[in-house]
Amino acid sequence: MITREREQLTTSPDGGPPEDQPKWRQDFPIDWPQDHYVSRRDFTKFMVLTSLAFTAGQFWIVVQNYLRKRQGELPLQKIATVDEIPIGGTVTFAYPEAHDSCLLLRTGENTFTAFSQKCTHLSCAVVPQPDKGLFHCPCHEGSFDLATGEPIAGPPRRPLPKISVAVRSGAVYATGVELRTT
Ligand code: FES
Repeated sequence: MITREREQLTTSPDGGPPEDQPKWRQDFPIDWPQDHYVSRRDFTKFMVLTSLAFTAGQFWIVVQNYLRKRQGELPLQKIATVDEIPIGGTVTFAYPEAHDSCLLLRTGENTFTAFSQKCTHLSCAVVPQPDKGLFHCPCHEGSFDLATGEPIAGPPRRPLPKISVAVRSGAVYATGVELRTT
């Protein structure tokens, strides 16, 4: 039997000592100080477990970011030879997957820029309009700047994802996707 200091025990309703209490009260005592002590212990246990879960969650996020970055290393993909694209001309291609339609623009003798063709509003295909300096989305009259892919009119709020390109040995290659949020 666990013995405790008398002052640690709750005073019974009639003020008498525990041993003078009816049997039912001795069998089912309500010892409030002890009950509060157990509550504090449970709370501490809860806090320790919560901290461990939080730490594990942070660790999981770090691992996920690392894996995502590794997956973000996309392969080189040839889009077209430089000669195939006139200055001011555009070429469509798929990158990095077959269903990811993109647009390559030749903006100068040796300058190229490329964007995803998927509108950042509701994913309709944007259409280049070089004479107006923009990509037009026919679904809801959205527009993006031809040079930067930034939204300039209509419902889109986010820029078109930019495709990194490089010119090597007379051909233009896609080298990665720059995800942009602003
Ligand atoms: S889908 Fe392009 S503006 Fe709505």
